[in-house]
Amino acid sequence: MRILAIETSCDETGIALLNASGGPSLKTSKPSRAVPRIAVRESLVASQIALHREFGGVVPNLAKREHLRNLPILFARLEKKLRAKGERLRFDMITVTVGPGLEPALWTGITFAKDLAKRTGVPLVGANHLEGHLYSFLLPQKTAPSKIQIAKSQSAKLQSTQSSAKKTITAPQIAFPAVALIVSGGHTTLLVMESLVKWRTLGETRDDAAGEAFDKAARLIDLPYPGGPEIEKLARTGDPHMVKFPRPMLHEKNYDFSFSGLKTAILYYVRDNPRSVATEAGRAGLAASFQAAALEVLIKKTIRAAKEYGARSVILCGGVAANTALRTQLKRAVRNALGPDAAFLVPLRAYHLDNAAMIGAAGYMAHLRHKRYPLRADGTLEI
Ligand code: KG4
Ligand code: ZN
Repeated sequence: MRILAIETSCDETGIALLNASGGPSLKTSKPSRAVPRIAVRESLVASQIALHREFGGVVPNLAKREHLRNLPILFARLEKKLRAKGERLRFDMITVTVGPGLEPALWTGITFAKDLAKRTGVPLVGANHLEGHLYSFLLPQKTAPSKIQIAKSQSAKLQSTQSSAKKTITAPQIAFPAVALIVSGGHTTLLVMESLVKWRTLGETRDDAAGEAFDKAARLIDLPYPGGPEIEKLARTGDPHMVKFPRPMLHEKNYDFSFSGLKTAILYYVRDNPRSVATEAGRAGLAASFQAAALEVLIKKTIRAAKEYGARSVILCGGVAANTALRTQLKRAVRNALGPDAAFLVPLRAYHLDNAAMIGAAGYMAHLRHKRYPLRADGTLEI
């Protein structure tokens, strides 16, 4: 099945073309555990980060305006890329993110997808953005990414990722039960999965999401938006033991998270230690201490859940999964706690941050599951 996928939930406009086949058959009462094979023909992302940076965060109406402008540009770019290979853009299904996210931004993608479905007569399936992150490990692990600039645009950077559909795509190895940690700018959610299509939420954040905590901590020490990559960079040279920040809810017997206390602790530290914060070593130590506190809670709670539910795989996904320290430390913790046979699944770096390829995977799974999300923006849609 050829799938055209569209993502506009936040500040990245994405259009992707995928080939998908196989996957769990839901015809029997007990779904099979087959894993789909997905090839990403093209994945185009126009990032608005530079535009929102001067406001210190995403401005919904500005995001909407940019999506409206970028969608036809990306679509034309996709057609052109295929033409260059002597192919015509053809697809059997369209899928678009319907939530969660910023509703004005979501509507731009939904309207574009509806028009396209009407024009082409191709069926349209709604996709859940969080399922996109969750299923992003299904996307190929080997790609040839390249970055290009959108013409006539000062703000949008276009990133293109592609993998040859002609190559044999092997489905990733996942064994169940699995525990999945979704960490993004809007969510921190821990799931236990019985199969690719059946899961239960174990816990989530009670206030700020993990990515939001990185963004807010960054702002307190005058780092630009988005703060996650900036904190990570600064933390590399800092002493993680410089400040003993709280580890919120670490010892509570649930799987919920809370990051707002950590933000307040940084606020007080910055207020009370202006001299330290004025030095490069002080700022680096602060970034490293914050990151150590946030990662310790995420990792320890994920491992505790994995042990309690006898997980044979652990999935890490969402924008914060781009954090190398988180990936390496969680990978090590999974090996130590669950043994060398446990699978640690993370998507390719190009698919951590918002993109349409992951929405293609989620749309394909929704199609297999006969899951019909209403085709309207739902800012608070749950997984
Ligand atoms: O998944 P995503 O692209 O968008 C949402 O669905 O929210 O995640 C964006 C979030 C931002 O909060 C950003 O600061 C964070 O992911 N992030 C990181 C890193 N790269 C991005 N957080 C920590 N370390 C990073 N390297
Ligand atoms: Zn996201």
